[in-house]
Amino acid sequence: MNKIEVNRLTVQYRDGNGVFTALEDVSFGVEKGEFVSIIGSSGCGKSTLLGVLGGLRGADAGEVLIDGKKVSGPGPDRSMVFQHYSLFPWMTARNNVAFGIKQVKKNLPRGERLSRAAVFLAGVGLENFKNKYPGQLSGGMRQRVAIARSLAMDTEILLMDEPFGAVDARNRTILQELLLRLWEGAGDVVYPPGEGPRPRDRKTVVFVTHDIDEAILLADRIIMMSNNPGKIYREIAVPFERPRNRALLIQTPEYTKLRNELLALFFNDFGSAI
Ligand SMILES: Nc1ncnc2c1ncn2[C@@H]1O[C@H](COP(=O)(O)OP(=O)(O)OP(=O)(O)O)[C@@H](O)[C@H]1O
Ligand SMILES: [Mg+2]
Repeated sequence: MNKIEVNRLTVQYRDGNGVFTALEDVSFGVEKGEFVSIIGSSGCGKSTLLGVLGGLRGADAGEVLIDGKKVSGPGPDRSMVFQHYSLFPWMTARNNVAFGIKQVKKNLPRGERLSRAAVFLAGVGLENFKNKYPGQLSGGMRQRVAIARSLAMDTEILLMDEPFGAVDARNRTILQELLLRLWEGAGDVVYPPGEGPRPRDRKTVVFVTHDIDEAILLADRIIMMSNNPGKIYREIAVPFERPRNRALLIQTPEYTKLRNELLALFFNDFGSAI
């Protein structure tokens, strides 16, 4: 059984101008421990899709199942990194992360929540900013706090909507590597000793990005969407072995070949829209 099953999902928005179909008849599955990237041009419904997976938005037709059960709202099995900042402005970075932890680990004492929050903030390079409020942080730093929160929650499923979109190129590379190592089970990069995920209990990740190189580096499989209405266009396996090393991977002819194929597909479908 797939961890996540999306069955014939259709989502529409209604406003004064009528009905707009954002997603039409979208179906796919994600296995437990699989890392799937969703790519597609702006407006094709990626955030809408993640909203439904997160239980924040309902479906007009079809359904989403997690572990075989229909999703009807958010749950402690999922954490989400939103495309736009989603921190509480009245809480420090550390309290934002600790609050996320509290949502899923209700029995963890406050002191442990706070120390866990500090460990994860250090992991995203914000050790010295933990007592700052979101308004005192740059956009990219806020996004790193949101990523730390999601990782610290240690949920079975991670839903990430362009999590590195607002982060500068250098930090983006660092965070991609961090996520990769955490997910692949390198373990104690950020997690407290002995707590990191092992390959057998990898998290299930749905990761939205515009960036083809990012998708290839991270994903087991890439789901490419087409626009208007949003549909699944192609599914492409990324067969490269893990752990992956960016520097070595990008030098291989297989990488160049896959990248060129993806670019051709992307522009074949979206060339006229860009
Ligand atoms: N609340 C809303 N009301 C009406 N239309 C909406 C609403 N939210 C999104 N849409 C429309 O639905 C479509 C899909 O939006 P969505 O945010 O899911 O796209 P996206 O693929 O995440 O785009 P981007 O890459 O720019 O983030 C867009 O055409 C958008 O205009
Ligand atoms: Mg979006």
